[in-house]
This record gives sequence, C-alpha cells and structure tokens, in this order.
Amino acid sequence: MFGKIIGTGSCVPEHRVSNQELSGFLETNDAWIRERTGIGSRRVVDGERPEDLALAAAKNALSAARISAEELDMIVVSTLSSNHMLPSVSCLVQRGLGAKRAMCFDLNAACTGFLAAYNTMQAYINLGIVKTGLVVGAEGLSRITDWSDRSSCILFGDGAGAAVLRSDPEAEFATVMHADGEKGDALTCEFAYALEEGYPGTVLPVAPEEKKRRTLIRMNGQEVFRFAIRQVPACIQELLAQENRELDSVDWFLLHQANARIIEGAAKRLGAPIEKFPMNLAEYGNTSSASIPILLDELVRDGKIRRGQRLILAGFGGGLTWGATKVTF
Ligand code: UT7
Repeated sequence: MFGKIIGTGSCVPEHRVSNQELSGFLETNDAWIRERTGIGSRRVVDGERPEDLALAAAKNALSAARISAEELDMIVVSTLSSNHMLPSVSCLVQRGLGAKRAMCFDLNAACTGFLAAYNTMQAYINLGIVKTGLVVGAEGLSRITDWSDRSSCILFGDGAGAAVLRSDPEAEFATVMHADGEKGDALTCEFAYALEEGYPGTVLPVAPEEKKRRTLIRMNGQEVFRFAIRQVPACIQELLAQENRELDSVDWFLLHQANARIIEGAAKRLGAPIEKFPMNLAEYGNTSSASIPILLDELVRDGKIRRGQRLILAGFGGGLTWGATKVTF
C-alpha cells in the first residue's frame, strides 16, 4: 500500500524582490535575467525563518486535507538552509502544529529534496509504519546566497511547500533516483562554523574572503545547466520505461523550477507539449526543495490538477542529485 496526497499547502515570504531591484546593486538587468532564466522576481525572508515558512505551509496542507495534527504519524522536512542544526525543522513544525504522535526528521538532497522526502514517506507507508504523514520542502536560500555574485544570486528565492499523504489501497507510486558525488563541486556551500579557526577538523585557518566564498552558495552554472538538460529528460524516460507507460499518459510534469530554459529543453527532448510543464519561477525564482511542492499546491488550488490525473515530479540539483517520481493525484 502507498500514500495518496490528501492535501497541499505552501507559504512564501511577503517581501518581493524584482529583477529591477537587483540591477540597483548588481551589474545586471531585467531583460538578461528574464531571457536567460525566465525569472522576474523572487520572495525573500524579512524576519521569517525557514521553519516559520515550513510551519505555515504545513498548516495550510493540514487544513486542505481536513485532518487534525494529532493524526500525523510522521513529518519529514527537506531543507538545506534551516536556522537550526538542533532541533530539526521537522520537530519545530511538529511543535508548532501540536502533532504529538508524529516522529520527525529532516533530510537534505538539495533541489531533489522534496522527492527524497516524498519517496521516504511512501516507503514508511508501504512498510505499514505510517498511515498519515506530512512532507515539507522549506528553504531560506537568501541567507546563504552571495548577493554580490550576479551569476547565482539572481536565481534564488525563499519559500515552503507541503503535502499530506495518507495510505490508500488505490494509491500508486514509482520512482527513479540518482546521484553523482563526483560532480558535487559544481554546487557547494559549507557551514560557517566548520571554517572557524580552532574548530575541530579545521586543518588550516581560512582567510575571511575565502570563508565568505565557501559559506555562501557557489555554483558552476553552465555545468549544472548541462547536467540538468541531459539528466532530467533521461530520468523521466527511465521512469516511464520502468512503468511501461507512454509519455502521453502523463497529465503534468512538475519539474524543479530552476530555469525556464532547462524546463523547455526537457520538454523538447522528451517530445512533450510545453503546456504540460507548468512554471511559476517568473514569480518565485528557484526555491530549491520548496519549488515542486509550491507549484503543486498552486496548481491544485487553481483546480488545474484534478483527482485521478497522473503527474511526474522531477528534481535535480546539488550533490549532484536528480530523480523522477510518479504521482497519481
Ligand atoms: O537548483 C540548482 C540548480 N541550478 C541551476 O539549475 C542553474 C543552472 N544554470 C543556469 O541556469 C545558467 O547557467 C545561469 C542562469 C546561471 C547562467 O546563464 P548562462 O546562459 O549559462 O550564462 P553564462 O554563465 O554563460 O554567462 C554568459 C555571460 C557572461 O559574460 P561574458 O563572459 O560572456 O562576457 C557572464 O558574465 O553573461 C554574464 N552574466 C550576466 N550578465 C548579466 C552572468 N550573470 C549575469 C547577470 N546579468 N546576472
């Protein structure tokens, strides 16, 4: 038995930063950013913490699912940008919801994180350990973004999305997940404390400039772009072949919202109509593990995704990691 999505929710910060505003302190412009990425603005935390966004998204998902927090058996949060090492964001969400029965943990698979969390929940449901679970992708990327690096900061935004799953005899599930640690240097970010002089494990003192460089997101954009444009369609095809399904049996492809050109390229390589690849990155940018559940929630709330429809979710990013998961809504 697997889980069916019975409710979705999302939350983005109020504070909106336009491309125009970025061009006030960076050598960039709205036309370049839109043309190269499809991004028009992003939301940036202004006092909120990633766990606040996670909790608000979770509350919205529970209310859409019409269940009480006490019904949750497990909460899994995917994040790479939480304020806390301890307690985990999932425990903070549990506390905020009053989900006393739920076991909790966080995981990090970068922009593939929501898929990793969703798949983990499905595994627990399939083992009979969990009946009702909450998965959340939550990020405050703006705090680890290098706002002086025009090649990366224009991409990122903050937000959270959530889904409630409940075991259901009719639910279907299938996934393919991959990683290539050999290419991990293409997208990096180190913990600041680990570079402190005197911190156990720090071999050499790190100069302040070098420290700033390493503790903010560093990305080889072209390498990540090339990887994504090749691997995303390939893993979708792998999933379809595994399931013995035709491309046109899929109603929606919800891809990680990194760059409109990656999504358009994937649609083209697959030979699927671009209309089946909804995007909201013009508004929110790349919110890493939150991008897929935010998009899912918007489409469900707009009535575009309907019961019985077949979805493929596809994530890709740091690690490098990538994967595709089938969801029958
Ligand atoms: O979720 C994590 C996954 N991350 C991604 O998916 C990111 C994938 N990569 C990308 O989306 C693209 O590589 C970027 C949007 C980051 C960059 O676009 P690009 O088409 O690969 O540009 P580029 O790096 O080849 O740079 C082209 C030019 C360079 O100038 P020169 O050397 O040709 O004179 C850059 O310095 O554009 C310049 N440039 C900019 N110009 C204006 C780079 N960033 C900017 C900018 N505004 N913000």
